[in-house]
Amino acid sequence: MRGLFITLEGPEGAGKTTNREYLAQQLEAQGFTVQLTREPGGTALAEQIREILLAPHSEPMAVDTELLLMFAARAQHLAQVIIPALEQGKIVICDRFTDATYAYQGGGRGLDCSRIAMLEQFVQGDLRPDLTLLFDLPVADGMARAVARGKLDRFEQEQHDFFEAVRQAYLQRATDDPERFRLISAQHALPEVQKSLDVHLLEIMERARAH
Ligand code: TMP
Repeated sequence: MRGLFITLEGPEGAGKTTNREYLAQQLEAQGFTVQLTREPGGTALAEQIREILLAPHSEPMAVDTELLLMFAARAQHLAQVIIPALEQGKIVICDRFTDATYAYQGGGRGLDCSRIAMLEQFVQGDLRPDLTLLFDLPVADGMARAVARGKLDRFEQEQHDFFEAVRQAYLQRATDDPERFRLISAQHALPEVQKSLDVHLLEIMERARAH
């Protein structure tokens, strides 16, 4: 596949949405073709699965159901959007991908990572992100930002310990795979975060040209 697959990860309130727009604008200004997308979601069908996943329900969702729905949405997203875009040579910027499953369903919900790895192989084959930008910030800051945004979804209603486990799982993955991960402190004001993003933008452009 000729394109470049970039994923953005981090907790709620880390500013991923604003920063993904910034990355896409900067790359497009340099003449690159960008496919901006997100998970869970990214296609009409996968967005419907997203709604089921994020809405609070009176019936508790089993952890396995949550895991399988994440991968069901991912399979659809890969088939309809990600793989075709990479085949067309685009830079795909995806707001969350399978690292989020390891962080939330693995770290947060306590699911055995070997089960996630099994589904990862089943759904993705050998496809993995080329580069992952991990936006990190203290749990209390992220939760405060999410609360300030308004109504909380099913994940945002979780407690401090859940998000601490999510954060630690993300940081562990970054430590385990320094080749792929770039850590960005999202604690600062937006202009500062974007300044630190610029370094990674240069790397993305270099790698996209080399592809
Ligand atoms: P978002 O708020 O960044 O759009 O993400 C939606 C929520 O879905 C967020 O709380 C993290 C969660 N999530 C998982 O739990 N597992 C996953 O694999 C993905 C992609 C997201």
